Amino acid sequence: MTTGITFIIFGATGHLARTKLLPALAHVVMDMPINSHAVVGVGSRQRTDAEFVELVRSSLMAGKLEPGCIDQFLRGSFSYQAVDTVDTFDDLNKTVCRIESANGLGGDRVLYLAVPPSQLDATLMGIEKGCLQSTLGWTRLVVEKPFGTDLATAEATNRLIQKGFTEDQVYRIDHYLGKETVRNLLVFRFANALFEHTWNRRHVESVEITVAESDGVGNRAGYYDESGAVRDMVQNHLTQILTLVAMEPPVTMTADAIRSEKVKVLHAARAIGNHDAVLGRYEKGIVQGTDVPGYLDEPGVPPDSVTPTFTAARIFIDNWRWQGVPFYLRTGKRMSDRVTQVVVRYRRPPVCMFHAPQDCPGHQNVLTLRLQPDEGFELLFDVKEPGDEGRIGQIPLSVSYDDVLADAPSAYETLLADVLEGDQTLFVRSDEVEASWRLYEPLLDRSDIHPYAAGSDGPADADRLVTTLPNAWTPL
Ligand code: BG6
Repeated sequence: MTTGITFIIFGATGHLARTKLLPALAHVVMDMPINSHAVVGVGSRQRTDAEFVELVRSSLMAGKLEPGCIDQFLRGSFSYQAVDTVDTFDDLNKTVCRIESANGLGGDRVLYLAVPPSQLDATLMGIEKGCLQSTLGWTRLVVEKPFGTDLATAEATNRLIQKGFTEDQVYRIDHYLGKETVRNLLVFRFANALFEHTWNRRHVESVEITVAESDGVGNRAGYYDESGAVRDMVQNHLTQILTLVAMEPPVTMTADAIRSEKVKVLHAARAIGNHDAVLGRYEKGIVQGTDVPGYLDEPGVPPDSVTPTFTAARIFIDNWRWQGVPFYLRTGKRMSDRVTQVVVRYRRPPVCMFHAPQDCPGHQNVLTLRLQPDEGFELLFDVKEPGDEGRIGQIPLSVSYDDVLADAPSAYETLLADVLEGDQTLFVRSDEVEASWRLYEPLLDRSDIHPYAAGSDGPADADRLVTTLPNAWTPL
């Protein structure tokens, strides 16, 4: 039971806060036993409290929240404070203390950092300087991705955080971990003996993890061009899926036991060689019937940019379970469709009894876990087709979560609720974030970027990475 909470949101007027964070916070405040709440928005521009309340209200209305939920959320205390230099954080702490005492809040604080990577360290220093940790209740620090831009910056930011916070106060966000279908990966594996018993090198030939997007960079070129596909998607979202698919069963279901198993996967991953990854950048093309410009012609993208919008990589995990099994990772913007899925290809039976040898390769069991959209899963089987010709066909056993499961909360609602409950399972630990950067370091400065047409499934050069059956990426 939580009596009163103060949410101090750095970057409170930014795109992420308006589109994801504030709507999720309104739902969480409505659904959880919170008696009173205050929101202190922090940003670099001057604004009045009234302007901030209007911004919150319009964000919630744009998010189509029910009027009852909006009213209940806005019944809390809302204020706005501009900070520019580290010194102005002293004033921020005074504002927060005044609001807490005026509203009878118990002193529990969430410091939510939704700031661009370039402002992260300065904000952390300001928090330290302004003594923003509560002296009356708990303080939890939530840090949005991207966490660092490479191993050195991630280590430096971790060190900065560790000066003032203990690891059990820190919640590094990767919103993929809050998605229901991503959370379901562990249940799918460890609650179903049928799959877990075959989830290893003896039975699995390859695993393919795809996070494809049909959208381009939109109006985020300023951020995206500094990041690119490896930093924006691979180091975090795809890696989270990879570790959940590949990890060993945790000894207990505690946050640290689960997170330790994920880190071990990254420690067992073989260094990625030059020939194990292909980067790409979209050129103009047609996506779902609409002509779209190439990346270099997107507003805000420098004409000499060398930022990749696509990455494909082949990763080997050198441990007992996965030795020799390639994990193919693929992500890109402006691809033919928006699909996030894990495809597990099983080895064929040792003897090809029902086909001519040349027809055998295509016949294998394939499990597809569809994480979004059209959430569900599908397993391909060989079956005898009716009649005497002895023909064998492949049929899918298919489940759509829409048909069987109730509506899920948004990823941000799940994660915010976990922050309030003090559950770190779905947050990235410091050693995990560093292990992940270490793995992808060889990809960060590559300049061999292959073109692909918007609306395609990526550059043709990526095909050479797939060296197992059926020698090609699964079409989107
Ligand atoms: C964000 C990336 O973290 O995830 C975006 O910065 C990307 O570039 C987005 O589009 C994808 O998230 P989702 O939930 O839409 O799959």
